[in-house]
Amino acid sequence: MKRHTLTLCALLLSAFFTVGGSKAQAQQVTPAPLKVEQREGLFRITEATVLCTNLKGKEKKMLETYLATLPAPYNQGLKSAKKARGNSILLEKTETAPTADNAESYTLEVTPRQAVIRAATDAGLFYGLQTLLQLTDTDAAGNRTVQAVRVEDAPRFAYRGLMLDVSRHFRSKEFVKKQMDALAHYKLNRLHLHLTDGAGWRIEIKKYPRLTEFAAWRPEAVWKKWWFGSEGRKYCEQDDPRAQGGFYTQDDIRELVEYAARRHITLIPEIEMPAHSEEVLAAYPELSCTGEPYKHADFCVGNEATFAFLEDVLAEVMELFPSEYIHIGGDEAGKAAWKTCPKCQKRMKDENLKDVNELQSYLIHRIEVFLNAHGRKLLGWDEIMEGGLAPNATVMSWRGEEGGINAVKAGHRAIMTPGSHCYLDGYQDAPASQPEAIGGYLPLSKVYSYNPIPAALSEEEARLIYGVQGNLWTEYIPTEEQCEYMIYPRILAVAEVAWSDPARKSYADFHARALKAVEQLKQKGYHPFDLMNEIGDRPESVTPVSHLALNKPVTYNAPFNQSYAARGEKSLTDGRRGNWTYSDGAWQGFISRNRLDVTVDLEAETDIRSISADFIQVVGPEVFLPAEVIISVSTDGTDYQELTRISHRVDKADAIVFKNYGWQGETKARYIRYQARAGKEFGGWVFTDEIVVQ
Ligand code: ACM
Repeated sequence: MKRHTLTLCALLLSAFFTVGGSKAQAQQVTPAPLKVEQREGLFRITEATVLCTNLKGKEKKMLETYLATLPAPYNQGLKSAKKARGNSILLEKTETAPTADNAESYTLEVTPRQAVIRAATDAGLFYGLQTLLQLTDTDAAGNRTVQAVRVEDAPRFAYRGLMLDVSRHFRSKEFVKKQMDALAHYKLNRLHLHLTDGAGWRIEIKKYPRLTEFAAWRPEAVWKKWWFGSEGRKYCEQDDPRAQGGFYTQDDIRELVEYAARRHITLIPEIEMPAHSEEVLAAYPELSCTGEPYKHADFCVGNEATFAFLEDVLAEVMELFPSEYIHIGGDEAGKAAWKTCPKCQKRMKDENLKDVNELQSYLIHRIEVFLNAHGRKLLGWDEIMEGGLAPNATVMSWRGEEGGINAVKAGHRAIMTPGSHCYLDGYQDAPASQPEAIGGYLPLSKVYSYNPIPAALSEEEARLIYGVQGNLWTEYIPTEEQCEYMIYPRILAVAEVAWSDPARKSYADFHARALKAVEQLKQKGYHPFDLMNEIGDRPESVTPVSHLALNKPVTYNAPFNQSYAARGEKSLTDGRRGNWTYSDGAWQGFISRNRLDVTVDLEAETDIRSISADFIQVVGPEVFLPAEVIISVSTDGTDYQELTRISHRVDKADAIVFKNYGWQGETKARYIRYQARAGKEFGGWVFTDEIVVQ
């Protein structure tokens, strides 16, 4: 009788689940698997379910260590594969990978009796297990069931990463572990730690104690206050009562590396050079061009002591991190001091280097030789290509995709992390609804839309795209909670971009899964962005506007800036409105002395009721609202009548704000002159998207 009821229940339930076909199932797994086939029946997971494996020795122990962190039945030890007869979960390592040439591929076969995961690697088994966990439904009474299913799955890219900047704001070891739990659950396999930067050095180096006694501490916890404050970006001693910051001891690093390995995550350390090194040069000023602290961000490349330091540091770093790659930064070097530094000049002469780019390249080459000699590979931001790319280096492309494309075309591997789609420090929703961010606008949908293989690459070249990574810089992210808020759910989109077959991608489907994932993450104690309440794009930007000046010619009495040209001379009358960021290609930027000064020709005398334009202010990058706008009209293009002159008190406290400057009334004219001036005290840019005439 009891059995009957159960079977009936199972049938009813399976009928319920089959309604949505395999879609209902696929909708539970992120990143979306390659292939999901729905089957009949339900598998029940209880505390008595037996976990079995053919893994032996160290491999078995490693998996058990991870399983011990999960609830029963997972934490009850692994039995021999021979015991997998009744209600059981079998993790079976196979000779060959289910998907040819894809070491991380796996299959998961769930029947009412058993769940069987097969893979040729421990990582494959681990990912099969994550899929099983995601497919498990738990009812209110805590009963766990999995709809019978067959999953075949394999990642698109081998490198699936997150970068976490722990320099600008230090993050605890426990926090890093917590993030690794989530990354692994979504099948991400690299955590790149930005361990050193001007805001603080974060890793114990035995040979250079001042890095962590001094360069890891500052008298102000919040980066923004410290960086822009009146104290001048000073560090302080660890035992100073004001000291804020921290570092990972070498034991901490070993613990993190071990924790990562259990989750099939590789920790990649980044040690910045030759720039972003203010903290090192404050602790060891003899490594800078003038030998003075607080003067430089770049190491002196002419000084042999610089190489001794970097190699000593890297030697300790390589002892701690087993990763194939060591990231050496390489971004945003100012190189200015090198031009006059006698040591740098001598180096350039001796080595026949024609400019400071080649001097940077000299350093990167030399460091690469050192890393290669220790069996490691060099990874760096795309600036490492300037002055000639080191022969075996891999490029992390962040200033768009160009660096990655050029690297691949030259036969190098590249990892795609373009700011446009992968910088998780930008606003993920309407800025006014969000905690202050560095700027930009990167909603979940845009991350999801990314394809790491640029159209410019041949199939052959595309194979050198090693993968993709989301980057979290933390200048504007003072707390751990806010860090999580910026990471989730956008990192799930990175995971799907990195793992799933692009032909099967669907934002609607992903969005539904992301909503559920946000709830699950909250239940697990994370602090994700509340996707449910997403506002979305700036309303003006959603549909083209229609107005009297549409497609009318515009004369620029002062030029727009070529870096923010939008659609050039068409931009201000093309009906396209800007979104939440000035760099979206719809906003046009002006930095010339008079800022914005344009004349719109309506091509015939026209009755006019209103003339207006929107402006954006983003204080970080010095984009300000105009202090004054003048709107004038003319019938002949010579004599102008001023309609209005609008003054505005620009306030730097408005970190990001939009404002419409307009005139309303009744007039008749052919020409409209629109001028927008910057406040003298602020300097900076002026950005507008459209001169709207009604
Ligand atoms: C970077 O964002 N400077 C790599």
